[in-house]
Amino acid sequence: MNNIAPSHIAIIMDGNGRWAKERNLKRTAGHSAGAEVIREITTHCSYIGVKYLTLYAFSTENWKRPKLEVEFLMKLLEKYLKQELPIFIENNIKLRTIGDTSRFSKSLQKVIKQTEEKTKNGTKLTQVLALNYGSKDEIVRAVKRLNEKKLEVNEENIEANLDTSGMPNVDILIRTSGEVRLSNYLLWQNAYAEMFFTSTYWPDFNKNELDDIISDFNNRERRFGGI
Ligand code: FPP
Repeated sequence: MNNIAPSHIAIIMDGNGRWAKERNLKRTAGHSAGAEVIREITTHCSYIGVKYLTLYAFSTENWKRPKLEVEFLMKLLEKYLKQELPIFIENNIKLRTIGDTSRFSKSLQKVIKQTEEKTKNGTKLTQVLALNYGSKDEIVRAVKRLNEKKLEVNEENIEANLDTSGMPNVDILIRTSGEVRLSNYLLWQNAYAEMFFTSTYWPDFNKNELDDIISDFNNRERRFGGI
Protein backbone atom coordinates (compact mmCIF):
# COMPACT_ATOMS: atom_id res chain seq x y z
CA MET A 1 0.00 0.00 0.00
CA ASN A 2 1.64 3.27 -1.09
CA ASN A 3 -0.72 5.44 0.84
CA ILE A 4 0.23 8.26 3.14
CA ALA A 5 -0.87 7.31 6.64
CA PRO A 6 -3.27 9.78 8.22
CA SER A 7 -2.09 11.17 11.58
CA HIS A 8 -5.39 10.78 13.34
CA ILE A 9 -8.19 8.28 12.82
CA ALA A 10 -11.31 8.46 14.98
CA ILE A 11 -13.88 5.67 15.05
CA ILE A 12 -17.47 5.36 16.24
CA MET A 13 -17.59 1.63 16.90
CA ASP A 14 -21.27 0.94 16.32
CA GLY A 15 -23.34 -2.19 15.72
CA ASN A 16 -22.20 -4.54 18.47
CA GLY A 17 -25.78 -5.18 19.60
CA ARG A 18 -27.12 -5.88 16.09
CA TRP A 19 -24.15 -8.13 15.33
CA ALA A 20 -25.00 -10.20 18.40
CA LYS A 21 -28.75 -10.25 17.69
CA GLU A 22 -28.17 -11.62 14.19
CA ARG A 23 -26.33 -14.51 15.82
CA ASN A 24 -28.93 -15.08 18.54
CA LEU A 25 -26.41 -13.96 21.11
CA LYS A 26 -26.76 -11.51 23.97
CA ARG A 27 -25.87 -7.88 23.19
CA THR A 28 -22.97 -8.20 25.60
CA ALA A 29 -21.40 -10.86 23.37
CA GLY A 30 -21.27 -8.20 20.67
CA HIS A 31 -19.35 -5.88 22.98
CA SER A 32 -16.86 -8.64 23.80
CA ALA A 33 -16.35 -9.35 20.11
CA GLY A 34 -15.98 -5.60 19.54
CA ALA A 35 -13.23 -5.35 22.13
CA GLU A 36 -11.24 -7.99 20.21
CA VAL A 37 -11.44 -5.94 17.00
CA ILE A 38 -9.92 -2.96 18.80
CA ARG A 39 -6.67 -4.89 19.16
CA GLU A 40 -6.45 -5.77 15.44
CA ILE A 41 -7.18 -2.21 14.36
CA THR A 42 -4.79 -0.66 16.89
CA THR A 43 -1.93 -2.96 15.89
CA HIS A 44 -2.56 -2.28 12.22
CA CYS A 45 -2.73 1.50 12.70
CA SER A 46 0.53 1.42 14.58
CA TYR A 47 2.11 -0.72 11.84
CA ILE A 48 1.12 1.65 9.02
CA GLY A 49 2.22 4.80 10.87
CA VAL A 50 -0.99 6.32 12.21
CA LYS A 51 -0.11 8.39 15.30
CA TYR A 52 -3.51 8.72 17.04
CA LEU A 53 -6.45 6.32 17.07
CA THR A 54 -9.42 7.67 19.00
CA LEU A 55 -12.20 5.21 19.84
CA TYR A 56 -15.66 6.03 21.15
CA ALA A 57 -15.90 3.43 23.89
CA PHE A 58 -18.54 4.98 26.18
CA SER A 59 -20.53 8.14 25.58
CA THR A 60 -22.16 10.49 28.10
CA GLU A 61 -25.46 9.15 26.73
CA ASN A 62 -24.58 5.46 27.21
CA TRP A 63 -25.57 5.66 30.92
CA LYS A 64 -29.17 5.45 29.66
CA ARG A 65 -28.65 1.80 28.70
CA PRO A 66 -29.95 -1.01 30.95
CA LYS A 67 -27.97 -1.18 34.21
CA LEU A 68 -26.68 -4.67 33.47
CA GLU A 69 -25.31 -3.61 30.09
CA VAL A 70 -23.59 -0.58 31.61
CA GLU A 71 -22.06 -2.79 34.31
CA PHE A 72 -20.90 -5.25 31.67
CA LEU A 73 -19.24 -2.48 29.64
CA MET A 74 -17.43 -1.21 32.76
CA LYS A 75 -16.13 -4.71 33.58
CA LEU A 76 -15.14 -5.28 29.98
CA LEU A 77 -13.19 -2.04 29.94
CA GLU A 78 -11.31 -2.98 33.09
CA LYS A 79 -10.53 -6.44 31.72
CA TYR A 80 -9.49 -4.96 28.39
CA LEU A 81 -7.06 -2.49 29.97
CA LYS A 82 -5.43 -5.16 32.13
CA GLN A 83 -5.16 -7.51 29.18
CA GLU A 84 -3.77 -4.92 26.78
CA LEU A 85 -1.15 -3.40 29.09
CA PRO A 86 1.70 -5.81 28.14
CA ILE A 87 0.74 -5.47 24.47
CA PHE A 88 0.80 -1.68 24.68
CA ILE A 89 4.23 -1.75 26.31
CA GLU A 90 5.61 -4.31 23.86
CA ASN A 91 4.38 -2.28 20.88
CA ASN A 92 5.38 1.15 22.20
CA ILE A 93 1.74 2.26 22.38
CA LYS A 94 0.56 4.94 24.77
CA LEU A 95 -2.94 4.96 26.25
CA ARG A 96 -4.72 8.24 26.77
CA THR A 97 -8.33 8.92 27.66
CA ILE A 98 -10.69 11.77 26.92
CA GLY A 99 -13.99 12.42 28.68
CA ASP A 100 -15.00 12.70 32.30
CA THR A 101 -13.97 9.46 34.00
CA SER A 102 -14.79 10.79 37.50
CA ARG A 103 -18.19 9.07 37.31
CA PHE A 104 -16.54 5.64 36.98
CA SER A 105 -15.88 3.38 39.96
CA LYS A 106 -12.74 4.09 41.96
CA SER A 107 -11.23 0.75 40.92
CA LEU A 108 -11.80 1.42 37.22
CA GLN A 109 -10.38 4.93 37.58
CA LYS A 110 -7.32 3.39 39.21
CA VAL A 111 -6.78 0.89 36.38
CA ILE A 112 -7.15 3.70 33.80
CA LYS A 113 -4.62 5.86 35.66
CA GLN A 114 -2.16 2.99 36.02
CA THR A 115 -2.41 2.07 32.35
CA GLU A 116 -1.86 5.69 31.32
CA GLU A 117 1.09 5.97 33.70
CA LYS A 118 2.72 2.70 32.61
CA THR A 119 2.39 3.49 28.91
CA LYS A 120 3.22 7.19 29.06
CA ASN A 121 6.53 6.77 27.20
CA GLY A 122 4.94 5.05 24.19
CA THR A 123 5.86 6.92 21.01
CA LYS A 124 4.62 4.74 18.14
CA LEU A 125 0.88 5.33 18.46
CA THR A 126 -1.49 6.79 21.03
CA GLN A 127 -4.72 4.89 21.54
CA VAL A 128 -7.22 7.40 22.84
CA LEU A 129 -10.29 5.95 24.53
CA ALA A 130 -13.27 8.28 24.74
CA LEU A 131 -14.82 7.36 28.10
CA ASN A 132 -17.94 9.03 29.45
CA TYR A 133 -17.22 11.36 26.57
CA GLY A 134 -19.52 13.89 24.95
CA SER A 135 -18.24 16.63 22.71
CA LYS A 136 -20.53 19.35 24.06
CA ASP A 137 -19.54 18.39 27.60
CA GLU A 138 -15.87 18.62 26.59
CA ILE A 139 -16.28 22.08 25.02
CA VAL A 140 -18.05 23.38 28.13
CA ARG A 141 -15.21 21.96 30.26
CA ALA A 142 -12.65 23.70 28.05
CA VAL A 143 -14.41 27.08 28.31
CA LYS A 144 -14.64 26.69 32.11
CA ARG A 145 -10.86 26.06 32.16
CA LEU A 146 -10.33 29.27 30.21
CA ASN A 147 -12.41 31.17 32.78
CA GLU A 148 -10.44 29.66 35.66
CA LYS A 149 -7.15 30.55 33.98
CA LYS A 150 -8.52 33.97 33.01
CA LEU A 151 -7.63 33.31 29.37
CA GLU A 152 -9.23 34.96 26.37
CA VAL A 153 -11.90 32.86 24.64
CA ASN A 154 -10.44 32.25 21.19
CA GLU A 155 -9.96 29.22 18.95
CA GLU A 156 -6.37 28.61 19.95
CA ASN A 157 -7.14 28.68 23.68
CA ILE A 158 -10.24 26.53 23.36
CA GLU A 159 -8.30 23.95 21.33
CA ALA A 160 -5.48 23.88 23.87
CA ASN A 161 -7.94 23.25 26.70
CA LEU A 162 -10.00 20.50 25.13
CA ASP A 163 -9.43 16.97 26.44
CA THR A 164 -7.60 16.32 23.16
CA SER A 165 -5.10 19.09 23.86
CA GLY A 166 -1.90 18.64 21.86
CA MET A 167 -3.43 16.12 19.46
CA PRO A 168 -3.82 16.83 15.73
CA ASN A 169 -7.35 17.27 14.41
CA VAL A 170 -9.09 14.21 13.00
CA ASP A 171 -8.13 13.24 9.42
CA ILE A 172 -10.48 10.29 9.04
CA LEU A 173 -13.72 9.71 10.91
CA ILE A 174 -15.24 6.26 10.54
CA ARG A 175 -18.63 5.11 11.75
CA THR A 176 -19.62 1.47 11.40
CA SER A 177 -23.06 -0.17 11.24
CA GLY A 178 -24.73 2.05 8.65
CA GLU A 179 -25.69 4.93 10.94
CA VAL A 180 -24.82 8.34 9.50
CA ARG A 181 -24.50 10.57 12.54
CA LEU A 182 -21.75 12.15 14.61
CA SER A 183 -23.47 11.45 17.94
CA ASN A 184 -21.72 14.22 19.87
CA TYR A 185 -18.27 12.86 18.94
CA LEU A 186 -15.27 15.19 18.53
CA LEU A 187 -17.39 17.97 17.01
CA TRP A 188 -14.54 20.48 17.18
CA GLN A 189 -11.79 18.08 16.14
CA ASN A 190 -13.78 16.75 13.16
CA ALA A 191 -14.07 20.22 11.59
CA TYR A 192 -12.15 19.14 8.46
CA ALA A 193 -12.26 15.36 8.83
CA GLU A 194 -12.99 13.17 5.84
CA MET A 195 -15.93 11.00 6.87
CA PHE A 196 -16.54 7.36 6.05
CA PHE A 197 -19.70 5.46 6.89
CA THR A 198 -19.73 1.71 6.40
CA SER A 199 -22.59 -0.72 6.90
CA THR A 200 -20.23 -3.26 8.48
CA TYR A 201 -20.97 -3.90 12.15
CA TRP A 202 -18.01 -3.10 14.39
CA PRO A 203 -17.27 -6.75 15.36
CA ASP A 204 -16.89 -7.53 11.62
CA PHE A 205 -14.70 -4.52 10.84
CA ASN A 206 -11.12 -5.45 9.96
CA LYS A 207 -7.81 -4.10 8.73
CA ASN A 208 -8.61 -4.75 5.06
CA GLU A 209 -11.63 -2.48 5.24
CA LEU A 210 -9.54 0.10 7.06
CA ASP A 211 -6.91 -0.08 4.29
CA ASP A 212 -9.64 0.51 1.68
CA ILE A 213 -10.82 3.58 3.61
CA ILE A 214 -7.27 4.92 3.82
CA SER A 215 -6.81 4.41 0.05
CA ASP A 216 -10.04 6.29 -0.56
CA PHE A 217 -8.85 9.04 1.80
CA ASN A 218 -5.64 9.35 -0.19
CA ASN A 219 -7.67 9.93 -3.35
CA ARG A 220 -9.77 12.68 -1.83
CA GLU A 221 -8.68 16.25 -2.28
CA ARG A 222 -8.70 18.11 1.02
CA ARG A 223 -8.98 21.85 0.52
CA PHE A 224 -9.63 22.98 4.12
CA GLY A 225 -11.92 25.73 2.87
CA GLY A 226 -9.56 26.86 0.10
CA ILE A 227 -9.97 26.15 -3.63
C1 FPP B 1 -22.09 0.51 20.05
O1 FPP B 1 -22.74 -0.69 19.77
C2 FPP B 1 -20.92 0.35 20.85
C3 FPP B 1 -20.71 0.89 22.11
C4 FPP B 1 -21.73 1.15 23.12
C5 FPP B 1 -19.37 1.24 22.55
C6 FPP B 1 -18.25 0.45 21.97
C7 FPP B 1 -17.80 -0.61 22.87
C8 FPP B 1 -16.98 -1.61 22.49
C9 FPP B 1 -16.40 -1.74 21.15
C10 FPP B 1 -16.60 -2.69 23.44
C11 FPP B 1 -15.88 -2.29 24.64
C12 FPP B 1 -14.81 -1.30 24.49
C13 FPP B 1 -13.64 -1.37 25.14
C14 FPP B 1 -12.65 -0.28 25.01
C15 FPP B 1 -13.27 -2.53 25.95
P1 FPP B 1 -24.28 -0.75 20.09
O2 FPP B 1 -24.45 -1.49 21.37
O3 FPP B 1 -24.86 0.62 20.09
O4 FPP B 1 -24.82 -1.57 18.90
P2 FPP B 1 -26.29 -1.48 18.29
O5 FPP B 1 -26.46 -0.08 17.74
O6 FPP B 1 -26.28 -2.51 17.22
O7 FPP B 1 -27.24 -1.77 19.39
